[in-house]
Amino acid sequence: MAAKLFSPFRLRGIELKNRIVVSPMCEYSSQDGFANDWHLVHLGSRAVGGASLIIFEATGVSPEARITPDDLGIWKDEHIEGLKRITSFLEAHGSVSGIQLAHAGRKASTYSPWTGEGAVPENLGWQTVAPSAIPFSDTYPLPVALDQEGIQKVIDDFRTATQRSLAAGFKVIEIHAAHGYLLHQFCSPLSNQRTDEYGGSYENRIRLLLEVTEAVREVLPADLPLFVRISATDWTEGGWTLEDSIALANILKTKGVDLIDASTGGNVPQAKIPVGPGYQVEFAERIKQEAGIPTGAVGIITNAQQAEAILENNQADLIFMAREFLRDPYFPLHAAQDLGVDVEWPVQYQRAKRVK
Ligand SMILES: Cc1cc2nc3c(=O)[nH]c(=O)nc-3n(C[C@H](O)[C@H](O)[C@H](O)COP(=O)(O)O)c2cc1C
Repeated sequence: MAAKLFSPFRLRGIELKNRIVVSPMCEYSSQDGFANDWHLVHLGSRAVGGASLIIFEATGVSPEARITPDDLGIWKDEHIEGLKRITSFLEAHGSVSGIQLAHAGRKASTYSPWTGEGAVPENLGWQTVAPSAIPFSDTYPLPVALDQEGIQKVIDDFRTATQRSLAAGFKVIEIHAAHGYLLHQFCSPLSNQRTDEYGGSYENRIRLLLEVTEAVREVLPADLPLFVRISATDWTEGGWTLEDSIALANILKTKGVDLIDASTGGNVPQAKIPVGPGYQVEFAERIKQEAGIPTGAVGIITNAQQAEAILENNQADLIFMAREFLRDPYFPLHAAQDLGVDVEWPVQYQRAKRVK
């Protein structure tokens, strides 16, 4: 049987063997930003499990860009070797490696989920930055508003991080402009109250994201794809909207962006989000239809039939999955069985492909 979920998808010079993507997931398991054996086993298992594209977790483009002191990083050349070891393994097992380049802005310098909540103490943390000096919440650090020099550093850090990513073997770059992190903070009027050319009007608020995109695209070879993850809505009155996202996608398309990864929320703690199966698919669909750019759908997509229906209904081009991959690293192999599609299993596991 043919299933769209197991049809290849080409973006520029990269062919994905199916439509199932490991969505970026912070592991909070690094010291000084370095990748280690945890990352190799965690990401390697998902390659063995048949994911076509594996996007590494939000990776700090500078030390102060990290969400927590335990985040993965790519701010120095020494980080390259450990990352390359993993991308080589993924490639050898048929998966394409992507990296999510990130700056946490005002949501930085916080505890990882299992070590605490809110801001870390001064001896572990750092001065956070943001479009405006407004904290995310009472328990988060008070950021300083970036000046022109600081903004230029952010752009340069994303450019250099892209060059290091290429040296580390990544074939897809995803710019993290979602979930209330720095680039989203600039886009949303809820977090951006600047009065210079980076604040106020829509054009001014999206300026930093466009400049980062241009810097990344400038050093990314023409045959490699660029994704941008956005929060398609703030789910909050007076905040960033789906209409803003469609307009943004139309502009990003002209800047060499190949796919919009459509998530939502994260910029303000009080947002009411109607979480449920496939709750963000409509955003991927509207952006795909109205901006004419490929999209990825994400958010409580947990089984093969659901994923297949999203593709069949032309709501998205790729299916990003996070938590289901934590429950089942071999989700793609199992999904193929569910849909009656014959896919290759790793030779080492072939004896288990059939129950009898
Ligand atoms: C453990 C964990 C870590 C995450 N880290 C990131 C991240 O680094 N970057 C990001 O954009 N989203 C991150 N997310 C969000 C996921 O990529 C995904 O968008 C979200 O979990 C919804 O998809 P799901 O229902 O398939 O889990 C994380 C989610 C989880 C569960």
